[in-house]
Amino acid sequence: TSSSTDTLLASIRTIPDYPKPGILFRDITTLLGNAQAFRRAIDELVHPYAGRKVDKIAGIEARGFILGGAVAHQLSAGFVPIRKKGKLPHETVRVAYSLEYGLDEMEMHKDGVAPGEKVILIDDLIATGGTAEAAVKLLRQIGADIIAACFVIDLPDLGGRKKLEALNVPVRTLMAFD
Ligand code: PRP
Ligand code: HPA
Repeated sequence: TSSSTDTLLASIRTIPDYPKPGILFRDITTLLGNAQAFRRAIDELVHPYAGRKVDKIAGIEARGFILGGAVAHQLSAGFVPIRKKGKLPHETVRVAYSLEYGLDEMEMHKDGVAPGEKVILIDDLIATGGTAEAAVKLLRQIGADIIAACFVIDLPDLGGRKKLEALNVPVRTLMAFD
């Protein structure tokens, strides 16, 4: 409903010039700290999948862990972390992705998802889509069936949604900021 969208929108704090001059940073810590907004965000992320078969939620470090854990619990699904390199102890798959400055790498455990399992990818925000695209590559490399990628916030001007849709990943977002 629009009132629930308003509650969610109003719960996001915007910080000018963070982490650099000219950037308007959308801060979800104020959503997470507001019990009503946090519950609504999780309810809205979950509701299209209620009663459907979802094996795993894949959450992207770091804010995707917080949201993804709650979504996994609500859907009675498992949770699998997608992490910055060097953090996971068992055998991993790894992929390089570009950030605003230079490259980084993300990993997940090879046995984190079994081939054919139905997975929903979760993060707080999609900007350029570079992070989510890397996560999609990891999941597909190990044979996951990605049923959707869901984010609280879309920054549509940065093109991330289109990048994922071009990979045939259905994208859901709860709000957008220009
Ligand atoms: C932020 C955000 C997404 C990503 C989106 O994470 O939480 O994961 O950037 O950007 P993109 O669509 O342009 O790739 P960040 O890299 O700041 O990591 P953190 O959550 O560990 O701080
Ligand atoms: N907020 C949080 N994470 C981000 C943002 C933002 O505005 N832009 C890119 N990653």
